Amino acid sequence: MLAHDHMLPCGACIAQIVREGADVKRFVLDTEIEAMPGQFIMVWLPGLDEKPFSLASGVPVAVVVAKVGPFTRTLHDLRVGDRLWWRGPLGHGFTLPNPDVTGPVAKGTLLLVGGGYGAAPLAFLAERASSAGWQVMALLGARSESGLILRERFAALGCRVIICTEDGSCGQQGLITEAAEGYVGHSGREKITAVYGCGPLAMLEALRPVCGEHRVPCQLSYEAFIKCGMGVCGSCAWNGLLICHDGPVIRYSASGEWLSPHDGDATPVSSQMIMSPAGVVPPNDNVTGVPTPF
Ligand SMILES: Cc1cc2nc3c(=O)[nH]c(=O)nc-3n(C[C@H](O)[C@H](O)[C@H](O)COP(=O)(O)OP(=O)(O)OC[C@H]3O[C@@H](n4cnc5c(N)ncnc54)[C@H](O)[C@@H]3O)c2cc1C
Ligand code: FES
Repeated sequence: MLAHDHMLPCGACIAQIVREGADVKRFVLDTEIEAMPGQFIMVWLPGLDEKPFSLASGVPVAVVVAKVGPFTRTLHDLRVGDRLWWRGPLGHGFTLPNPDVTGPVAKGTLLLVGGGYGAAPLAFLAERASSAGWQVMALLGARSESGLILRERFAALGCRVIICTEDGSCGQQGLITEAAEGYVGHSGREKITAVYGCGPLAMLEALRPVCGEHRVPCQLSYEAFIKCGMGVCGSCAWNGLLICHDGPVIRYSASGEWLSPHDGDATPVSSQMIMSPAGVVPPNDNVTGVPTPF
């Protein structure tokens, strides 16, 4: 594995491009990094811009990109062999529950809730969780079938895959958070040990109280307007947090309290626990209990 300074952009060539959906492509680069699922990289196209994308895998480095505007349109026009620049991994990723804390029965089921391209970092997490012996249930949602991605990847990992679309064109009809509530609250049949979410803010904000109500810890990956990606410019400030530095994955305890990335109740998914380029900085006074617990 190449050693590199994760704050500095380095060049890579596109080794493979896979169409994952109508306007979604997976870009696999000819390079690799040690990273945790949920961490992101900044992709730089010189002369255009630099934008954040969650890692869909670290070995090799891959991102899943939805075409939504000028930058992602240009990315979608690139071909195998083209060169781009990237830096990372950045931010804090998902961690697996720590059996030392939760007890020997902890290896129950992890519920992964992914809206749209939010499925990408969760597929990376599913890979790590499955190989660590966890049962994984993937609840994937989108407005309609064309917005669903990576179903096959979750299935190939042995996950139980449940599909939810708002228009009913595939799987259950309705909001993914309504379906999630059914599984989180169903503790008699299938004990959900922890919930992991990545998707639109409205989805995350609906999921958080559901977990709190049923006393299930959760980790949610938030998006904000990221520019520097290293806790310097303040562009990604949200509820007293800097999403690039304190997140993008925010952890909540079973009682709904925000856990600092440095609280020791979870085992890092990989050996590389702290990735923030700005170093370990305690959250400012403002953030205690924020994002507001239930
Ligand atoms: C931590 C994180 C992880 C992300 N992971 C993915 C991913 O795996 N796949 C994916 O397709 N997209 C991901 N995004 C969103 C992606 O960065 C934006 O879609 C992209 O920047 C849009 O750029 P654009 O020029 O194509 O579109 P624009 O027209 O500039 O913007 C389209 C939308 O993207 C948002 N956006 C624009 N610039 C930024 C920025 N600098 N930071 C955050 N959001 C921005 C805007 O709010 C707008 O809603 C992630 C964002 C964050 C913060
Ligand atoms: S993007 Fe600059 S502080 Fe987060």
